[in-house]
Amino acid sequence: MKNILVIGGGGREHAIIMKLAESKHVDKIYCAPGNGGISKYAECFSVSATDIDGVIALAKKLQPDMVVVAPDDPLVLGMVDALQAEGFMTFGPKANAAIIEGSKVFSKELMKKYNIPTAFYEVFTESEKAIAYLKEQNSYPAVIKADGLALGKGVIIAENEEEAIQAVHEMIDDQKFGKSSARIVIEEYLTGPEVSVLSFTDGKTIVPMISSMDHKRALNGDMGLNTGGMGTISPNPYYTDEIAKECMDKIFTPTLNAEGRTFEGCLYFGLMLTPKGPKVIEYNCRFGDPETQVVLPMLEADLYEIFEAIYNHELDKVDIKWKKGSCACVIMASPGYPQKYFTGYDMEGLDEMGQTDGCFIYHAGTKLDENGKLVTSGGRVIGVTATGNTLLTAIANAYRGVEKVGFKHAHYREDIGQRALKALTSEV
Ligand code: AMP
Ligand code: GLY
Repeated sequence: MKNILVIGGGGREHAIIMKLAESKHVDKIYCAPGNGGISKYAECFSVSATDIDGVIALAKKLQPDMVVVAPDDPLVLGMVDALQAEGFMTFGPKANAAIIEGSKVFSKELMKKYNIPTAFYEVFTESEKAIAYLKEQNSYPAVIKADGLALGKGVIIAENEEEAIQAVHEMIDDQKFGKSSARIVIEEYLTGPEVSVLSFTDGKTIVPMISSMDHKRALNGDMGLNTGGMGTISPNPYYTDEIAKECMDKIFTPTLNAEGRTFEGCLYFGLMLTPKGPKVIEYNCRFGDPETQVVLPMLEADLYEIFEAIYNHELDKVDIKWKKGSCACVIMASPGYPQKYFTGYDMEGLDEMGQTDGCFIYHAGTKLDENGKLVTSGGRVIGVTATGNTLLTAIANAYRGVEKVGFKHAHYREDIGQRALKALTSEV
């Protein structure tokens, strides 16, 4: 039996841990730093997910059979390289492959070189040149992206010249995201339904997971500020078998074969289904959050076996199947999120394991207080997740969970999955 250490502390990590806990090979699970809900399933250690030395020291102490590095920052910083150098078996790409998310300039150049469909773009390091380009293009909305990681906040969709110029100054001149925005990408604005496709890959074989749809805006009807994601559904009805095939031929396979870098782990394709075909909006070098929360409950395979096969470059030998039906996840967030938010509220309606019947409750921002009770501690607090034979029942089951559990002043969207349902009824 295997002991696993998972690095990270959000809903995505909770979903990974609950799936690993189902594996017939897995005995004990450790997590750093974890959170209140995760601590019911894994022994948690207060080591930050970006503290490479701290994680190495913890791994040396615990001697796990595998270390799963889930978040983007430690992957881009080279945590997998450091763990492998110490002889640990890992899940996650090395730094030279994680750069596909770590640098937008790198990923855009890769797509250009290998003819992978994406938005037209230019790269800038000087604000005057960027502004001159914006004026010359005079096309709005304009999309302005910081090159490096920026906590998911590095993309500005500027509605007019004034907003665009402000974004350029903030990124390049004021270094809003530090070094991450010293270089920027200005790209064409694309339209169409968005699809997230996570994939397992060992560098030789790529196995797309079931598709999903995120809901990034804070408020109903896709209004309000951008967030880390307010809910997800799976599968995404816009992503037909025909489109999946096109993506495999024009996007997934060319990306896998693109460079002399071996990507081992979960490669995430953020796609937009434009009138001119599917295009890549972004790559991520890791499982999506909250996509993982609706994808892993649909997996009909042993997650540990997949991780081990990826490490051994034997992914082609694993049979990966998906359950029939659908899954929906509704994020319950702290009052005020995604701006300044309030925490410290008691969690209600949860059992001893931090769960409730009929749902998976994936904890993102909860902790145990001094009396061992679960209280809110972050922006996104829990993802209330349920499956169903149809998308409609999955959504209804998730919202039934939302009625039962929560905390004071919880903020959540009431329309998770509605756009997907419309797509189904109009047979897109
Ligand atoms: P990202 O942080 O890269 O996931 O981008 C955040 C969101 O910005 C995406 O999910 C899209 O909704 C939007 N976005 C990014 N690039 C474009 C683009 N070229 N055209 C339209 N929307 C975009
Ligand atoms: N849900 C989007 C992401 O994980 O980046």
